[in-house]
Amino acid sequence: MCGIVGFTGTEQAAPILLDGLSKLEYRGYDSAGIAVRDGEKETEIIKEKGKLKVLAEMTNQGKAVKGTCGIGHTRWATHGEPSAVNAHPHSSDDGNVIAVHNGIIENFQEQREKLIKKGYAFKSQTDTEVAVKLIDYYYKKYSQQPIEAIARAMVRIRGSYALCVMFKDFPGEIYCARKDSPMIIGIADGESYVASDVPAILKYTRNVYYIGNMEIAKLEKGAVTFYNIDSEVIEKPLTEIKWDAESAEKGGYEHFMLKEIHEQPKVIRDTINSVVTEGKVHFDSVNLTDEEMQQIELVYIVACGSAYHVGVALQYVIEALTSMQVRVELASEFRYRKMTLNKKSLVIVISQSGETADTLAALREAREQGIKTLGIVNVVGSSIAREADNVFYTLAGPEISVATTKAYSTQLVAGYLLALQFAKARNEIDDEKYQMLLEEVYSIPDKVEKILTDKERLQWFSNKLINVSDSFFIGRGIDYAIGMEGSLKLKEISYIHSEAYAAGELKHGPISLIENGTIVISVVTQTGLIEKTISNMVEVKSRGAKVMAVTTTGNYFLEDTAEFVCYVPQIDPLFAGSLSVIPLQLLSYYVSIGKGFDVDKPRNLAKSVTVE
Ligand code: AGP
Repeated sequence: MCGIVGFTGTEQAAPILLDGLSKLEYRGYDSAGIAVRDGEKETEIIKEKGKLKVLAEMTNQGKAVKGTCGIGHTRWATHGEPSAVNAHPHSSDDGNVIAVHNGIIENFQEQREKLIKKGYAFKSQTDTEVAVKLIDYYYKKYSQQPIEAIARAMVRIRGSYALCVMFKDFPGEIYCARKDSPMIIGIADGESYVASDVPAILKYTRNVYYIGNMEIAKLEKGAVTFYNIDSEVIEKPLTEIKWDAESAEKGGYEHFMLKEIHEQPKVIRDTINSVVTEGKVHFDSVNLTDEEMQQIELVYIVACGSAYHVGVALQYVIEALTSMQVRVELASEFRYRKMTLNKKSLVIVISQSGETADTLAALREAREQGIKTLGIVNVVGSSIAREADNVFYTLAGPEISVATTKAYSTQLVAGYLLALQFAKARNEIDDEKYQMLLEEVYSIPDKVEKILTDKERLQWFSNKLINVSDSFFIGRGIDYAIGMEGSLKLKEISYIHSEAYAAGELKHGPISLIENGTIVISVVTQTGLIEKTISNMVEVKSRGAKVMAVTTTGNYFLEDTAEFVCYVPQIDPLFAGSLSVIPLQLLSYYVSIGKGFDVDKPRNLAKSVTVE
């Protein structure tokens, strides 16, 4: 996820671009750049790695850059490490086409190879540079008309994009194109604006157009014309924005956590699509050959916090699909254990930030011992991403809320795809089962979407937890792993003491803690274990506990035991964790705001624990 802005009017553009980008830093902040043109003069491009303030200092808050037409970008790297070369704007070599882009071009490699054959060279590792040169190619090959050149490129590009483009032959004009990535166009007297999101332009105008998918817009000073993919002019209604600036940054959600919970369908889909095309998983970036996968006897999964909980869930999935043993380790323990690692093993480290000190140390320990390592990481170019032998990037985008949700969910899905690929490479599942399970993974985003439409019941039930001091999460197998995550969510943002137990463990001690009114939340999705967990629920209920259950649609008999049941859609039990965790995320969120806490910045916690 990146932030883009554009302006053309009578005012100096650079300060407006920088101001707009500062309102979009939550969308990405590993590098930034602007391109500004003064009348017919050469367009000036300034871009640099680092936060936006680096660019602001380089340009004296924009005052050093002259011109009334420009585009800008703040980057969240998806293709290519954070660097000045990979920063946007990107330009054709002759400066004919200059653009910024938010989105993911899935077939950029294929288009890049075609353009190289046509004589193009590439400086960066980005998909955006490919889009720029594809537009340039069509512009020169056909009518030298921006709209047509962009439309032709849109037909060839697969993926998502919000593009802002400047053409040398058309000074003072900005051309925009959109598919799936957000883009908004604003207008005021004599001025036109474009941005990824409302906060960037709210200071200048509340009058906006929402450009639709596969549509193109031409921005001139104070005038906007829209076109469809056939280059025909289309009319768009002008809308007035009612949001205040702060709620606009959260996309209209009250908190980043709720916004990120709702981004899960999209980012799960993006993560799946990053390695699956035409029903096949391709792990070029993971760079593990089938032969290597066949040799691996043991997988260590090492992480902290929620990322560790992902590992606990994946242990069950990998062991169900392959003959490999899986050991899940807390990074803070793994790094100090005097353990000789199995030479025929793979160490998988999972980390959203890619900077967690304990996880990074564990990775270094594995490399010290000559063990192959794989990082499942969300931040491109982070320390763990750079030091692991191979990386599987989750495409969750920047996660602002300290309590992870969307990054956690994309890590789970990345693990499922790895497990499937391992099983296939080791001939431990047949094609039919592989395709069936891949279909089940593909169904996750829509099923998460469905759960999110039913959040009011959870909000109602959350009120019963406001004054609770102790809570327990119980489950068996993958349900236990999800219980761990639900328990952490509740304790870290609502400060209610909470423990997760393997349901079968209750009678070995913890059940002594159950008394009248104790909250017990059970996760019950694993076929073959449901009856067992129900008997544990009966045990705690008979001792006075209030029992809630999260289960799969159809298990209505649970209402005989639990006083509140939350249903999630049917799915293969191996992947049910991706669904059952959603109600637990929402429950924790509602309890926290019900208690009046700062849900995005819980006390004592940091988003990334870069110290021991
Ligand atoms: C989870 O909500 C917390 N933010 C925390 O447990 C987090 O998962 C843990 O610190 C690991 O962070 P990482 O994924 O960036 O390595």
